[in-house]
Amino acid sequence: MELYNIDARDIDHVLINEEEIAVCVDAIAKQIDKDVEALGGELLLVCVLKGSLIFTSDLARKIKTPLKIDFIKASSYGSGTVSGGNLKISLDVGSHDWDKKFVVIVEDIIDSGNTLSKLIKYFKDKGATRVKTCTLLDKPERREVDLAPDYCGRSIPNEFVVGYGLDVDESYRELPFVGVLKPEVIKKYIG
Ligand code: IMP
Ligand code: MG
Repeated sequence: MELYNIDARDIDHVLINEEEIAVCVDAIAKQIDKDVEALGGELLLVCVLKGSLIFTSDLARKIKTPLKIDFIKASSYGSGTVSGGNLKISLDVGSHDWDKKFVVIVEDIIDSGNTLSKLIKYFKDKGATRVKTCTLLDKPERREVDLAPDYCGRSIPNEFVVGYGLDVDESYRELPFVGVLKPEVIKKYIG
């Protein structure tokens, strides 16, 4: 696979290539189609910005069920408890008939699980009865709360990854693959 010229110097290795990502997206799309048919409801994909932008747009084009897309920008801070009010929403979804929806929260990666577990509660509190979680990547080793995604592309080891929407300091989101940065590059950004 051809790496983009500037970034080629920064990537240590490709973890999941374009073709492998497409297979994951396809499988998840099929599962969602099946579940909506079985459980009912109007499909709403909630794209958790910014990391899942690319994943959501690919997924939306593979799902055959008619759907709507909304966006939320959220981060969690403080302790890992789900009950705490420590979910910061900097861009919120619009209004929906939540009880009629089949909500799929689309994340790029689950790390501690804090953000996603708080988002589930956030949508249930709005009145959604069908709330599913979807992530391209999962780092189960890092989990701080009890959470298993309903739809998951790949479980990966505890490594910092970029590409296909995932960033470090807002860079590398445009890479068409998921890759691991060179140690010296990670050091530059994260220390
Ligand atoms: P958590 O599950 O609440 O700890 O946070 C998940 C968020 O952390 C993701 O949506 C990403 O924005 C970010 N994140 C976690 N691991 C990585 C990584 O390896 N690369 C880039 N962002 C990451
Ligand atoms: Mg994110």
